[in-house]
Parts: sequence; C-alpha cells; structure tokens
Amino acid sequence: MNDNEDFDNIIKNNPSSLFLGDGDFRSDECVNLLKQVDIIVTNPPFSLFREYISQLLDYNKKFIIIGHVIKLAYRKIFKLIADDKLWLGSGRNNSSKLFKIPDEFVDKYNSKYKKIPIRWYTNTKLKREYNDLILSKHYTPEEYPKYDNYDAIEVSKVADIPCDFAGVMGVPITFLDKYNPEQFEILELRNSDKYKTPLCINGKEVFVRILIKNRHPLDI
Ligand SMILES: C[S@@+](CC[C@H](N)C(=O)[O-])C[C@H]1O[C@@H](n2cnc3c(N)ncnc32)[C@H](O)[C@@H]1O
Repeated sequence: MNDNEDFDNIIKNNPSSLFLGDGDFRSDECVNLLKQVDIIVTNPPFSLFREYISQLLDYNKKFIIIGHVIKLAYRKIFKLIADDKLWLGSGRNNSSKLFKIPDEFVDKYNSKYKKIPIRWYTNTKLKREYNDLILSKHYTPEEYPKYDNYDAIEVSKVADIPCDFAGVMGVPITFLDKYNPEQFEILELRNSDKYKTPLCINGKEVFVRILIKNRHPLDI
C-alpha cells in the first residue's frame, strides 16, 4: 500500500463532518470527540490556554500544543512543568517565530511579519532530550546581588548562571528553554500575582523569576 492509499484509508475511517453545535472545546460534542482520540495537536485560544490544558489532563490525553512563552509564567502551567507533567517540546531553544500578518492588518501593524515568542507545550515523551546547560561564569557577591526579601541571588540572564553557587538563584522564565531536571531543581515561581510578593533588590521590583538550585554545583 502506498502513502496515498494509507491517507485515503485514514480519511475513509475518520470522516470529518461539521459540528452540530458551536465547536466550543467544552461542549459535550467536543468532549465526546476528545474522548475518542489518542493525541491532540493544536493551537488553542491563548486566553483559554490554562482551561484547555486542564481539560486535556483531566481526560488523560497526550498533546502537543502551541502557546505564547508568557504562559510559562502562569502559576498553573509552571506547576505542571515543575511537577514534570508538562514540558517544552521540540525547538524549545528558539526564542521567537516569525508570523505573517494578514494583508488587511499590515497597515495597522506597519509590517508584514511579526515575531512572537512561542513554545510547544507537550506531555509526550517523544524526542525528549536534555542536555546540561554549560555554565562558564563563577559566583562573586558583587556580580550577583541578593534579593531584599528572599535568601537567593539574582541571575538576570540564563547564560550567566554561575557554575559554583550552591544556594538558591532567581532566573528569568526563559530558563525553562534550557531546563534539565537532572541538572537543576526548580523551587518556585515568583511573580507579582496575588499569591506571592515579587522579589526586590534595593527596594526595586524584579520581573518574573523562577527560583532554582544547581543539583551539582562545582566545589571550587
Ligand atoms: C490561536 S487561534 C488558532 C487559529 C488556527 N491556528 C488557525 O490557523 O485558524 C485559536 C482558535 O481557537 C478558537 N476558539 C476560541 N475559543 C474557543 C473555544 N472556546 N472552543 C474552541 N475553539 C475556540 C478561535 O476561534 C481560534 O480560531
């Protein structure tokens, strides 16, 4: 059987049809469809991202879905990553993708393309590869200030994580692009939401940070 015949068979056995309702992923019709599938690959509505992922996990589904990088700073998504129930998929080191702007919006954005920092969020084990982040910097108290309100040092760039610091470090959320659970332990997410006070240095608030520890700091 050739590829075309395979494809014809798949279509024949999975005929598509229009939804009877509005196609809302929370509707009974969509939930019934969801129950029948093994894996979901999609681009869900950004505003309902958390709810959508919760639904997929409630139904114990495997998924590969695309979403904005800022979703990493959502407490619920972050917790799933810290608990190893969700991780970033292929291409996790790419910071942004270029999207074509539809012709009718080109004037509004004054551009034909827009860079959007997106990530693949998945719970499939396929091609899950971890490499140690190469750490070339050394800790000095001058270069890595401590927070006013937490016993940890500020590391404002992932590339600057020192190789020889055994304590807690605050790093940007893009750290998750390089996160190897065997190399680092994730402690918590700190942002300015209602559950936690943001981290401060000399009274100044620091943007979203993930608190981490190196599992094997160099003993120098
Ligand atoms: C980020 S866009 C993805 C667009 C898609 N990749 C495309 O090229 O058309 C999210 C899509 O989800 C749809 N959507 C919004 N709310 C939804 C809901 N509650 N249930 C199902 N789909 C929804 C939107 O209409 C939109 O088409």
